Amino acid sequence: MSEQLISDKQRNSTPLCENKNLQKWVEKIAALTKPSSIYWVDGSDEEYERMCAELVASGTFTKLNQDLWPGCYYARSDASDVARVEDRTFICSHSKENAGPTNNWEDPFSMRKKLKGLFDGCMKGRTMYVLPFSMGPVGSPMSQIGVELTDSLYVVVNMRIMTRIGLPVYREIEKDEKRVVPCVHSVGMPLAPGEKDVVWPCNKEKYIVHFPEAREIWSFGSGYGGNALLGKKCFALRIASTMARDEGWMAEHMLILGAESPEGEKTYVAAAFPSACGKTNFAMLIPPTGLDGWKITTVGDDIAWIRPDANGQLRAINPEAGFFGVAPGTSVKTNPNAMISLAKNSIFTNVALTPEGGVWWEGMTDEPPAECIDWQGNRWTPAIGKETGKPAAHANARFTAPAKQCPTIDPNWEHPEGVPISAFIFGGRRPNTMPLVYQAFNWSAGVYVGATMGSEMTAAAAGTIGKVRRDPMAMLPFCGYHMGDYFRHWIRMGRKLNPTPKIFHVNWFRKDANGKFIWPGYGENMRVLKWIIGRVHGKSLGRETPIGWLPRYEDMDWTGYDFSKEVFDELQTVNNENWKQEVIGHEELFIKLHDHLPPEMVYERELLICRL
Ligand code: OXD
Ligand code: MN
Repeated sequence: MSEQLISDKQRNSTPLCENKNLQKWVEKIAALTKPSSIYWVDGSDEEYERMCAELVASGTFTKLNQDLWPGCYYARSDASDVARVEDRTFICSHSKENAGPTNNWEDPFSMRKKLKGLFDGCMKGRTMYVLPFSMGPVGSPMSQIGVELTDSLYVVVNMRIMTRIGLPVYREIEKDEKRVVPCVHSVGMPLAPGEKDVVWPCNKEKYIVHFPEAREIWSFGSGYGGNALLGKKCFALRIASTMARDEGWMAEHMLILGAESPEGEKTYVAAAFPSACGKTNFAMLIPPTGLDGWKITTVGDDIAWIRPDANGQLRAINPEAGFFGVAPGTSVKTNPNAMISLAKNSIFTNVALTPEGGVWWEGMTDEPPAECIDWQGNRWTPAIGKETGKPAAHANARFTAPAKQCPTIDPNWEHPEGVPISAFIFGGRRPNTMPLVYQAFNWSAGVYVGATMGSEMTAAAAGTIGKVRRDPMAMLPFCGYHMGDYFRHWIRMGRKLNPTPKIFHVNWFRKDANGKFIWPGYGENMRVLKWIIGRVHGKSLGRETPIGWLPRYEDMDWTGYDFSKEVFDELQTVNNENWKQEVIGHEELFIKLHDHLPPEMVYERELLICRL
């Protein structure tokens, strides 16, 4: 090891936080995991540069061509560690009942015993990083603090983009230690003395474990973002959803966007779509020709923490500081704002590497590069791709990009009190049945719409791609407690709100008889959003149907776009027979949840059946 690296390791080995309980906990975990050194992350630019250089030296990172991709790095994961592992994700509440039938549960006592065995010596030969992070702007009354102990430097540098880390967070902990959520992460691959590391250490055995009562997270065996960047899904959704239930707020799998009308009226909405269904694209939408007087601003693309203020107005923050987006399909055409956000200071994982030292993924350009290295490190050409059927980038390849680089970032995206929310939008990938857009009749009908959401599965989670699964409020893999109680929490929240936000459902993915998407999506979704905002302000009209209020052709603004009434009517068809089948589909989940289902869900279902 070079002298430089040795002195780097010694740096920050003494605690950077005066809080004794934190220091004791770090010592306790180090005694269990037995790392060769401990490093207290300070979060400085200089530290980040040094860490990235270390990742380059170890082979985990490739520095991209800095003329093309300034400040950007590239990583390839192990082929078995590319997505969230829902079947290895556990909610270990005291009682099984509290985790509910949609979560994997194990008795916390036996799980702790198992974890003790797994973590015993698991960091041998590695450095354990003490990584303090704030979900939400440091010091905001809506923010929460965690400390992740991890043996993955890849995790540290990604967390630096995705959250606020370092010295200011230690200062917050010194003020109020009770707020810290302890998070322990290991790739689960100790190194024997002299053993050479692999570029992507991980373990075949994976455990993503949450203790909701203790508000604690343990993750073993994976380096993939959703399993290892513990501020994101584990904290900001699973643990935060239980905090929110207890404290009267909401932690949701939602983007937040602002829409400013040509008259200067600003409306914020939050929208829930399952993973890899275009939340990032919607959050950064560019209004189409004809509606270009509108301006869309981005507050967040994945997670919203939402709380009523003293007057009952819901206000939301994005607890994250970066975008961990799906790369394939992202292009200058589909999402120019994302392309600008990721053009510098970003990390790319499992995309393809071009001979110029750049990155590429399917859908980035119409023409693939003549040659590149695929996400598994093999030579790839369009001909090889055709012959083998293998894409150059993994379908769940990701970019990690700073949110502040987004050209449409909202001026209030870091406002400590959050932004006011006027509407909720639910949506999924539905090839049939679901119209382009409709509005639920009222709050409880809207909660029913969210609770019965379905979507075709995508590559963001290991599983069967294409199968429709029920994914209530897009929270199925992220709700830290019983889903029936979660619906009840939504119903109760409605009683505190003034005004009560309107609730909508959208479906950009309906297909025609030939299996082609009917709606163009992307920027044209502004037309749907305009109708939604019009409903919020009592300006748009619609017709009443058994499922809710739908815009008629003439209720939509088609300025600058020639979309026929016939096609729109096809898109908006509510077929009663299909809907009867749909309601039977709702039963599948409701049967599982029956003893915790709030009565409103049962009555809403009955009302819907009667109307059909
Ligand atoms: C994500 C997901 O990574 O939902 O955002 O899987
Ligand atoms: Mn997500």
